[in-house]
Amino acid sequence: MVALCSRRNVGFMRSLKRLFVMDLSKEQRNTVERIRRLKKEKNAVILVHNYQKPEIYEIADFIGDSLGLCNAAKKTSADLIVFCGVMFMAESAAILNPTKKVIIPSPDAGCAMADMVNVYKFNEFKKGHPDAAVVAYINSSAEIKALADACCTSSNAAKIVKSLPQKKIIFVPDKNLALYVASQVPEKEIIPWQGYCPVHNFVNKEYLDEVKKEHPNAKVIAHPESKPEILACADHVSSTNNMIDCAKKDPAKEFFVLTECGMIERLNKEVAGKKFYGVCNMCFDMKKNTLELVLRSLETEKTVVKVDKKVADKARKAFEKMFELTGGYL
Ligand code: 13P
Ligand code: SF4
Repeated sequence: MVALCSRRNVGFMRSLKRLFVMDLSKEQRNTVERIRRLKKEKNAVILVHNYQKPEIYEIADFIGDSLGLCNAAKKTSADLIVFCGVMFMAESAAILNPTKKVIIPSPDAGCAMADMVNVYKFNEFKKGHPDAAVVAYINSSAEIKALADACCTSSNAAKIVKSLPQKKIIFVPDKNLALYVASQVPEKEIIPWQGYCPVHNFVNKEYLDEVKKEHPNAKVIAHPESKPEILACADHVSSTNNMIDCAKKDPAKEFFVLTECGMIERLNKEVAGKKFYGVCNMCFDMKKNTLELVLRSLETEKTVVKVDKKVADKARKAFEKMFELTGGYL
């Protein structure tokens, strides 16, 4: 496996290599065993986002993208949901399945993009566009979702926007995903909030052009949080989970992967016989969950995700709209 990192982040290439050589230490294996035992005792389910550390995959009941995780959280019959991802994802699980206790091992795992919008400023922005519907990308706080007509994820954003009756759509918070949606649904007027994901937004196009020369046959798979100039070079634009399907179905043997670096580990695990080159940055919030924190959170059940009931009820309506427009839960 070769990992290429965009220039501004060459500093973590070394740590990335460490991350990819996945042999659990004796101590880690012991922690994994204790987690598994406790999980059974407490009838807990562990939901894991694709960007989590590979040792976290070892304890997962489900690994997926935001949409898959919503479905898994909604459907579970477990009493306790341990959510290994960032806060907006764990909040979404709590909103979708309010009778369950949701815990997040590292409660300070936030999302830089979700933090780029606050309720006061967003309400002011909304007032300027009274005839527009609001679509909130799942990468937003519960409070922002509560102000939306529908939620969306990276895998269904264009479909949601297309299906809403309004011609004008405020899309919050990701300007890059908003521009991508606008290119897919030209009949709508998209009014973007100017947020972005630093992990995706700062991938360098010149660097991609340079490394592409080294692997001329490699196809490019990019996440739609990437800038338009990056998406213009992509053979596939997809959510993290759909990247796995793209890589399996495409006859190409090599791929450049433009999303958070953890996805390379996941692709290597899921797609045999192909090479993946990460042109990527790392989301340090996604890496905050550790095996030790998972164990502690299961033992103590203290890091509970709480969403105000009124906010949760409104945000759930926006989620329900998303599922209604996409044919229901998976
Ligand atoms: P996915 O829903 O595609 O996994 O994306 C989540 C995310 O945070 C991307 O940065
Ligand atoms: Fe947020 Fe970007 Fe990290 Fe995803 S990768 S959680 S959008 S900061």
